[in-house]
Amino acid sequence: MIGYRDDVRPGFEQALELYQASTLGERRPIDDRARFSAMLEHANLIVTAWDGDLLVGISRCVTDFAWTTYLADLAVHVSHQRRGIGKELIRRTQAAAPHAKLLLLAAPAAEKYYPHIGFRHFTQAWMLRAQDCVR
Ligand SMILES: CC(C)(COP(=O)(O)OP(=O)(O)OC[C@H]1O[C@@H](n2cnc3c(N)ncnc32)[C@H](O)[C@@H]1OP(=O)(O)O)[C@@H](O)C(=O)NCCC(=O)NCCS
Repeated sequence: MIGYRDDVRPGFEQALELYQASTLGERRPIDDRARFSAMLEHANLIVTAWDGDLLVGISRCVTDFAWTTYLADLAVHVSHQRRGIGKELIRRTQAAAPHAKLLLLAAPAAEKYYPHIGFRHFTQAWMLRAQDCVR
């Protein structure tokens, strides 16, 4: 039985364990404690999935609760993947800000996941990477 919560912020070690156990940690700065802490601290919408005391899923977002929700990280523990937890986390993320569109950047391994569950691809999306400068 999986429980879902949007009223708790996972601790640093709990989150670290999940990012590693989901493989998302390979693409996030989890070795930089200050940066990873800031990611957890400044997200203003975090939906989590729990198997008892074990954190098994997370949707970590920045939202204005009115226009746009940026889904920065979606991760499910490998032992719990393909059981609908990712979809339920997204459903609850959308429900927390029902008028906001949900934006994200897919990891290569999840490129086929998002269209499969109903996301649309927009060719007019643009990114200025942290190492890029406005010209
Ligand atoms: C991507 C991820 C979040 C999906 O979560 P999940 O709980 O395993 O997925 P769900 O159970 O909600 O899957 C829902 C549907 O998508 C399918 N699906 C799951 N992962 C998929 C993938 N990588 N590619 C295509 N389809 C996928 C499932 O089979 C299921 O299909 P169905 O509804 O037709 O039966 C999870 O695999 C994960 O944490 N991956 C590693 C981290 C990562 O890449 N995160 C994404 C960052 S953008």
